[in-house]
Amino acid sequence: MAQTTSVESGAHRRWENDPVLSVERLTMRFGGLVAVNDLSFDVGRGDITALIGPNGAGKTTVFNCVTGFYKPTEGRIVMRHGAGRKNDLVEELTASSAQHKSDGDGAVFLLERMADFTISHRARVARTFQNIRLFSGMTVLENLLVAQHNKLMVASGYTIGGVLMLPGYRKARGEAVDRAVYWMERTGLIDRADDPAGDLPYGAQRRLEIARAMCTGPHLLCLDEPAAGLNPRESAELNELLQFIRNEHGTSILLIEHDMGVVMEISDHIIVLDYGEKIADGDADQVKTDPKVIAAYLGVEDEEVLEQAEVLEVVAEAVGSKEEVARKIQRGGGEGGKQ
Ligand SMILES: Nc1ncnc2c1ncn2[C@@H]1O[C@H](COP(=O)(O)OP(=O)(O)O)[C@@H](O)[C@H]1O
Ligand SMILES: [Mg+2]
Repeated sequence: MAQTTSVESGAHRRWENDPVLSVERLTMRFGGLVAVNDLSFDVGRGDITALIGPNGAGKTTVFNCVTGFYKPTEGRIVMRHGAGRKNDLVEELTASSAQHKSDGDGAVFLLERMADFTISHRARVARTFQNIRLFSGMTVLENLLVAQHNKLMVASGYTIGGVLMLPGYRKARGEAVDRAVYWMERTGLIDRADDPAGDLPYGAQRRLEIARAMCTGPHLLCLDEPAAGLNPRESAELNELLQFIRNEHGTSILLIEHDMGVVMEISDHIIVLDYGEKIADGDADQVKTDPKVIAAYLGVEDEEVLEQAEVLEVVAEAVGSKEEVARKIQRGGGEGGKQ
């Protein structure tokens, strides 16, 4: 019986058997401040995984470590192409001084050893930023072509051949444009292709950032608060876009998100951070009824007041009654000694 249970639950917990990314004992210190403390979690291949937690919990810092913007103080960050945990290959790579290692059906990468541009182009991890970072003076199309710059340069052989339009370069350029057009269509930006990115409304700029990341052909897409500032209709469209990316392209998505509606609706797996440490890890049903999670969200102040109400709604729905929520909150607050 016990065996059946573990097989059954294993089938739904891709992050255990087939993780595209493993963050292992990650610590990031800034002087005396420990932003991320001994954090471990797995991201399932083909899953939408949400990283949530109050402001200052360390979420963006985790992204910055995964994508090579920060060098972690301690810890290992494993990215895998091809199915399975590939434990032997990962250990071989760790024992060597190399950044990546291939086997017959895939490769593993140690991201903490790699620079941001090789993480993007070789390990195939793409990201968007909490504060939009586009080339606002360039057109939408140009932003999407610049994202593929490295591929174009490789095809040109880094020589004047590119300028002379040798066939290899011409082909790559055609593919880059095709890819840009494809993602402009999917993100509703095709009519704005020739407009400067800076002229687009906020929601469209957010979609352009995702289109730009997808143009690099990522295996893992990291999105830092993509729904921030979106209205409910745009937020629903974002849900659809993320599900399309996962379902049609098989791209794994790691999502930092404050909008609990988005998180609970589309996530296969949720990891909750508080003060740089993991306080919960599981599917939506497990996480949203966890008293520690509720307490962490209700412990935050100021600008998050509205979101707390939202959380309360979601939780109330999950556990069935407001009274029960109140009871759980009291218990969580009493035990946890909220500051
Ligand atoms: N470059 C940095 N230098 C110093 N402290 C930082 C730096 N980046 C983040 N921090 C600190 O680390 C903590 C976590 O921040 P962050 O990862 O941005 O949180 P979140 O994204 O969950 O809101 C905060 O206390 C923040 O001030
Ligand atoms: Mg952040």
